[in-house]
Amino acid sequence: MKSRINIETGKIRFAAAPELYGLFFEDINRAADGGLYPEMIRNRAFEDSLVPEGCRVDENRKIYISGHGWPGAFNHGEGMDEWAEAVPETDIPGWYAKEAVMELDESHTLHPNRRASLLVSFREGGKIYNIGYAGISVEQGEDYHFYMMLCSDSDCQLTLTLEDEEGRNLGSTSLYVTAFEEYRRLDCRLRALQTGHRCRFCISAGNACRLRIGFTSLMPEKTFMGHGLREDLALALKNTHSRFLRFPGGCVVEGINAQNAFRFSHMIGPVWERPGEQLMWHYRATNGLGFHEYLQLCEDLDMEALYVCNCGMDCQARSGSGLTEDETEEFLQEALHALEYALGTADTEYGAMRASAGHPEPFRLKYVEIGNENWGPEYRTRYERFYRVLREAWPEVILISNCHTEQWGLPTEFADEHYYNTPEFFLEHADMFDERSRSGPRVFLGEYAVNGGNTMASMECALAEAAFLTGVEKNQDLVRLTAYAPLFQNADYTAWRPNLIVFDNHRVYGIPSYHAISLMAKYRGEYVVECRVETQKRPPVFSGLPGIMCADEGLVFRNVKINGKPAPLSRMLYGEAVPEGDTFRMEYGSRSHHFTGKSREWNEAFETFFTQGPFREPSVIWGLFGEDATTEYTFEAELKFAPDNPVTFSIWNSCPDTDAGCNEPRDPEWNLRTVRNRVWRLEGGRSYTQPARMGETKEGEEAGKETGLDYSVFNHFRITAGKEGYDCYINGKLTESVRLTCYPSVFAAASAYEEQIILKVVSVADED
Ligand code: AHR
Repeated sequence: MKSRINIETGKIRFAAAPELYGLFFEDINRAADGGLYPEMIRNRAFEDSLVPEGCRVDENRKIYISGHGWPGAFNHGEGMDEWAEAVPETDIPGWYAKEAVMELDESHTLHPNRRASLLVSFREGGKIYNIGYAGISVEQGEDYHFYMMLCSDSDCQLTLTLEDEEGRNLGSTSLYVTAFEEYRRLDCRLRALQTGHRCRFCISAGNACRLRIGFTSLMPEKTFMGHGLREDLALALKNTHSRFLRFPGGCVVEGINAQNAFRFSHMIGPVWERPGEQLMWHYRATNGLGFHEYLQLCEDLDMEALYVCNCGMDCQARSGSGLTEDETEEFLQEALHALEYALGTADTEYGAMRASAGHPEPFRLKYVEIGNENWGPEYRTRYERFYRVLREAWPEVILISNCHTEQWGLPTEFADEHYYNTPEFFLEHADMFDERSRSGPRVFLGEYAVNGGNTMASMECALAEAAFLTGVEKNQDLVRLTAYAPLFQNADYTAWRPNLIVFDNHRVYGIPSYHAISLMAKYRGEYVVECRVETQKRPPVFSGLPGIMCADEGLVFRNVKINGKPAPLSRMLYGEAVPEGDTFRMEYGSRSHHFTGKSREWNEAFETFFTQGPFREPSVIWGLFGEDATTEYTFEAELKFAPDNPVTFSIWNSCPDTDAGCNEPRDPEWNLRTVRNRVWRLEGGRSYTQPARMGETKEGEEAGKETGLDYSVFNHFRITAGKEGYDCYINGKLTESVRLTCYPSVFAAASAYEEQIILKVVSVADED
């Protein structure tokens, strides 16, 4: 097969968007503490095991449940189940004791923002130690800075040691602590004599004594540009050639509830005074990676900063909603303070804080996004207010809406769109911006990734994203900013997959998407020039089992055949098919979900959330037929059902091996439900080929075709599914004929400098 790419160098379409490629950082998968923010002591503030604010925990402390009923893994503060199983048991996550007794004290803390201190009673020669994030990693010859805030009611001879797995001393220092009632800070430096990746940090006492520790920290002295971030991870960011950084989230901005939503005021000042937050990614953040640190990173990487502020809403996807007027106002003030901190002169209140934190000149803060993934009337009123106030206060800052607020008639400069989908989706939609109106807001693709389909973090995914990005490049007069999501994954703590950059406590690599996107970001050009591709188109290849689904009980089916042969009912996903002579009757039967989370507590809490919460799924009864998943088949069945019982034939159901998305317990059938790929729906005597979404017909959906079905008798339904599409027949009469959307085998985009043409070509063809 040959393809032709025509580039018209003289035909300049528009100037390239200077910040088209960017990054989206969210504290997910332990990306901050123990990651980009290289704190080596886990649970440095001793708060991980405390019940998260505004939540309750079950009696075994395996899960927390927010006031909205959203459950997350807790495990006494260890977080995710897999992690909790991999570490030795302890009551105080990260910390262990030998010949010493540890106790959390919530009544005596270093600062009003701290929630506990650690009381340690050492016997002579006793010690406590911290195992960090899957071990503490040190490099021979490197220095590490330790400090702690403590008080003591007796004199203590302390030794601080970096110890490897075998208990060998890789570096130590001694401190003499005299009895002192008030907290004071002790600092020291440890040089690693050898390299070790599974070390622990020990505090041992030469005499019996009692200490109260309010806060601790151990960090490498060598950090990226001396600004406290992990060097190899920051370099991995630099090598993406990105031009902006969106931070700090994501869902964490919204929070599992108002108390745990990210706020500017928690992200500034001395780290031991910054309150922490329980994240929906099943651990607690200490906010060491705070507002100043993000802005400094942007400056160090020469990227524009894009700050996402909470707009007075907690996470709607987790059943949150609009906060009270007072709380919303509080968040608006937080946003104003953040802007002043970044952009105000050093004689303003917050500008002065920035100056005293070491940055007298204002930072660059070019974009502010009002909320993350919010919608509905609650968002509308909040967006309107935030937009008006922020616009007036900082006219030069570009404001981003997280949905198409222009559709409500509100001023909208940028609309943030998020796409998580299969490779086929990205390949089919590379041209999705070609026909978009240029009179609306500019587009920010704030989060995108292939996270469904048959492979994960693979070359296939990278190619599909790159193909999509060629389409974006051709429309960069409209789409001005893009960012893959999420950015970081600690390989030892994965709450979401896939992620662009994977690391552990001393190594890092980029998934194929990282390399593809970095390459595209490196070569930009000043102008986009005309570039057309002539190539063969190819359809997506779906495969799976056919199925019958109905909303209500009572449907009766018989004589089901696949390729002319009787086909067994291979599996009921929901409900039961009760035999009645030579027919089967669909009934609800047992309707329970079978969530796959590790703990019973988590599964049950999910069950409750999904059966009683706002995302309650419409009831369905659904059976699959045949044994082998195929692309091409003929399915036929005789069905009798009531006109008000919507019936859906699922054409190809496949269960991909991939398990993308959150590490939440899953109903194993969700995969099937969400990838049922193509459907044929019959409702009220009409026929539809668009999937019903959560039982509603959305605006713009097809009106359906009149079928003339006689509901008083059995009707014969036949579907012939093939590589190009499928045809649906009722009683031998063709009712629907659906062709699959094909996508090109080769994608390309071209841009130019004065004397150089840059051509980006992505081939997903079967052959070279
Ligand atoms: O990128 C992971 C999550 O996906 C983000 O937190 C959220 O914005 C989106 O739903």
